[in-house]
Amino acid sequence: VHRFSQALRLSVLDDLGLIPALRSLVNGLQERYGTRTELAVKGVERRLTPEVETAIFRIVQEALNNVGKHAQASEVCVTMEFREAGVGLTILDNGRGFDLTASVDALPRAGKLGLAGMRERARLLGGTFSIVSGSGKGTCLTLDIPAPKASPA
Ligand SMILES: Nc1ncnc2c1ncn2[C@@H]1O[C@H](COP(=O)(O)OP(=O)(O)O)[C@@H](O)[C@H]1O
Ligand SMILES: [Mg+2]
Repeated sequence: VHRFSQALRLSVLDDLGLIPALRSLVNGLQERYGTRTELAVKGVERRLTPEVETAIFRIVQEALNNVGKHAQASEVCVTMEFREAGVGLTILDNGRGFDLTASVDALPRAGKLGLAGMRERARLLGGTFSIVSGSGKGTCLTLDIPAPKASPA
């Protein structure tokens, strides 16, 4: 059932595109946890490569799971920005936040793969991923993916 529903979600991505797929994730969080959620789209929406769309979908999925599981937030805002060159993504919640004193590298050893996985997905796409959080201060995750460099002639 789990694998089937994963496949179903990815076909939503292929058939409807990134923004409707993100909207379904955002609505899901609202339904399951009652968290007020917003999806903002900046710039002119366009299709991205399947690798980039899948990575963004998975990052938002895991980030919203974390908000539901850990944040006790009343609001979360997902912003997807289509820039002339590249794309940006932020997931901002107003929940309890957490201290990032130990590095993200140490989390997988404790069986926590979510944040490390997001950062790895970003790295594989040549992007950057940052986490800003603090106890009582909410959490902001940011992904930046630059336009692919033109190959030298
Ligand atoms: N949005 C959030 N709000 C509060 N705490 C968070 C949030 N996201 C992550 N965390 C904290 O960071 C830890 C690591 O997250 P993650 O790598 O996804 O592992 P897991 O969700 O399996 O615990 C969580 O256990 C939690 O303490
Ligand atoms: Mg997690």
